[in-house]
Amino acid sequence: MATVKIFDTTLRDGEQAPGCSMNLEEKLEVAKQLETLGVDVMEAGFAVSSPGDFESVKSIAGIIKNSTVASLSRSVNKDIDASYEALKNAVSPRIHLFLATSPIHMQYKLKMSPEQVLERAVEMTKYAKSLCGNVEFSAEDATRSDREFLKRVVYGVIDAGANVVNIPDTVGFTTPTEMYDLVAYLKENVPNIDKADISLHCHNDLGMAVANSLEGVRAGATQVECTVNGLGERAGNAALEEIIMALGTREPFFGCETRINTQQIYRTSRLVYSIIGQTAPMNKAVVGANAFLHESGIHQHGVLAEKTTYEIFTPESIGINQNRLVLGKHSGRHAFETRVSELGYALTREEIDSYFVKFKEICDKKKTVTDADLEAILSQKEYNQSLYRLLTFDVHSGKNASAVCVIRLERDGGQFEEVALGDGPVDAAYKAIDKITNAPESVLEMYTIHSTSDGKDALGEVTIKLRAGERLVTGRGLSTDIIESSILAYLNAANKLLS
Ligand code: KIV
Ligand code: ZN
Repeated sequence: MATVKIFDTTLRDGEQAPGCSMNLEEKLEVAKQLETLGVDVMEAGFAVSSPGDFESVKSIAGIIKNSTVASLSRSVNKDIDASYEALKNAVSPRIHLFLATSPIHMQYKLKMSPEQVLERAVEMTKYAKSLCGNVEFSAEDATRSDREFLKRVVYGVIDAGANVVNIPDTVGFTTPTEMYDLVAYLKENVPNIDKADISLHCHNDLGMAVANSLEGVRAGATQVECTVNGLGERAGNAALEEIIMALGTREPFFGCETRINTQQIYRTSRLVYSIIGQTAPMNKAVVGANAFLHESGIHQHGVLAEKTTYEIFTPESIGINQNRLVLGKHSGRHAFETRVSELGYALTREEIDSYFVKFKEICDKKKTVTDADLEAILSQKEYNQSLYRLLTFDVHSGKNASAVCVIRLERDGGQFEEVALGDGPVDAAYKAIDKITNAPESVLEMYTIHSTSDGKDALGEVTIKLRAGERLVTGRGLSTDIIESSILAYLNAANKLLS
């Protein structure tokens, strides 16, 4: 059976999308999870694009042992040099070059003739190869390129040493049949094509990214580029979880396998959503909350009689634990610890101690604590390590009246109280906190709230991102009271800015 390699670009193409920025700590967490998931290659960033990106590529390259780590570079020496530098410590580094090959990109963006593009592609592939044994060349906007010209570029870069040639559908323009034909054409017409992997990189502008990738695989592509939850520029990239589950569920049809541990899919998806402060749309394929719910009577009847009537893969196969055990006020530390480890978390004693405090606090306000609540608690890192802690708050707000918040915080044994007016209770609370903490001036780049479960006593999980110059910090807060969650999230982020 053929193996398809999975190239994940969540940390580069995904992170590039508006609202999806991650800080270094978050990127490292995602990188480790991608390694656990079993991706063959992870694109850690675009090293030359900023000092922050350079640092992330370098740090990820330093810790990842079981996946190849790639850095993107335009086809110019300085980008390649930056990627090379950042990847130096990687166990398995890859320099990923790109240069556009479509008439529209060559004429308007690059202002280069096709011959110049071909020459540059070959020259830069040779240069990258002189520094790194593993080079990928991407013919940007390949699906809108002239086939004859694309064929010459692909031949040229493979001849120059490229190990992988990528055929991106940069603007999500192509269709599944066209993608099949294009890959088949390259396989038939490029004499040295067997010396390299053919890769696909499909964007989702017309909602066909996954279908286009799968058809390319059927035609003989051996690498697919994708992102967790389909994050990416504009409408996103092909979603990793959808590609994996399609290839796995229809294995006899596609005739190929991947190295991915599918039981890590749900965890990976949740991690990425939680970092960007979003949740999966209800009906999102594979990881949406409704993906395994059967509402209509006929479907329920069918599923009760035989699961496979309406379920083509099991929740367990993507790592959703069906154990409906719930914890509550009377659950002790042992039950908490057992459930946490059943959910797949390996925590240190100190972490267990810290999360258990938060768990107990929540049990006082909420009758039952579900797995979803537990996962939310476990995403509240540094809960007990704050500089400033919330002691009390008092808010008043109403229609046609300014909101006011009185807040009392504690730091190193001292207590501080401030009051502020605001445009709503959250704004008032944040202004009062600013007065106390004097944290570096920042912009609130993102604020999201979602409930971790159903019911009026559900936990509200707030995620915020604060930007202070180059620094981007994330804050999380969790409570049955959404004003408190908002305050905790802001304090969490402010404490990071101060530390
Ligand atoms: O969409 C695209 O063409 C890209 C390349 C840089 C691979 O992201
Ligand atoms: Zn892309």
